[in-house]
Amino acid sequence: MLVRMSRIRALISAGPTREFFDPVRFISNPSSGRMGYAIAQAALDAGWAVELVSGPVALPAPVGATLVPVVSAADMLAAVQTRFDACDVLVMTAAVSDYRPLLREEHKMKKARERLVVELEPTTDILKTVAARKRQGQYVVGFAAETQDVEAYALGKMRAKNCDMMVANRVGQPGGGFESERNSVVLLWPDGEREPVACADKSAIAHRIVERIAQRRETA
Ligand code: CTP
Repeated sequence: MLVRMSRIRALISAGPTREFFDPVRFISNPSSGRMGYAIAQAALDAGWAVELVSGPVALPAPVGATLVPVVSAADMLAAVQTRFDACDVLVMTAAVSDYRPLLREEHKMKKARERLVVELEPTTDILKTVAARKRQGQYVVGFAAETQDVEAYALGKMRAKNCDMMVANRVGQPGGGFESERNSVVLLWPDGEREPVACADKSAIAHRIVERIAQRRETA
């Protein structure tokens, strides 16, 4: 008898987004993309098919992943929206810019002015938008970058964004977070379970995350 096991299709977002206010200047954040790329690699190691929607980073795409390069939050929203229905697992590690300039000048702004005020408007919450239409069998994982009350805020985001698992991540302090090689996170689930993953390199954390997703999907 031939039993055909279909590969898990993972959609992973990574890196920062850039929100330009003139052709050469933008608002962004210091995300390196390392956590998302490490998760993409761990998913490939587990035999999953991986699409990696990535903001601008200085990392090579993991061999075997389909790279979808994007720049702005709007680009990332479009890329994730068109691919979400076909995925089994979504992992949103991207540090999406929450705001973008209201206006984008066509030409480089001159520095003649004493002060420059750039008005911002919110971007669309990609995770919340797509997870709202999650279907049976789809598993959605969010990341919560926090500088204080890490788990409380992460639990709130997990509920608000309809996630099946949240990775709570303390940022903005030495020894972890955005730009670092290493990280220390707490995995959270809606049933109240939590699992701290002590300061480890991002590859070790990524493998743990992928392992937990695989286990939880099976028992869901
Ligand atoms: N996220 C998203 N779209 C956005 C902002 C965030 O999809 N416009 C996703 C991130 O990829 C992450 C999760 O939402 O998986 C939480 O992101 P985070 O920056 O921690 O939280 P915010 O919802 O932006 O809330 P705040 O900035 O107020 O902490």
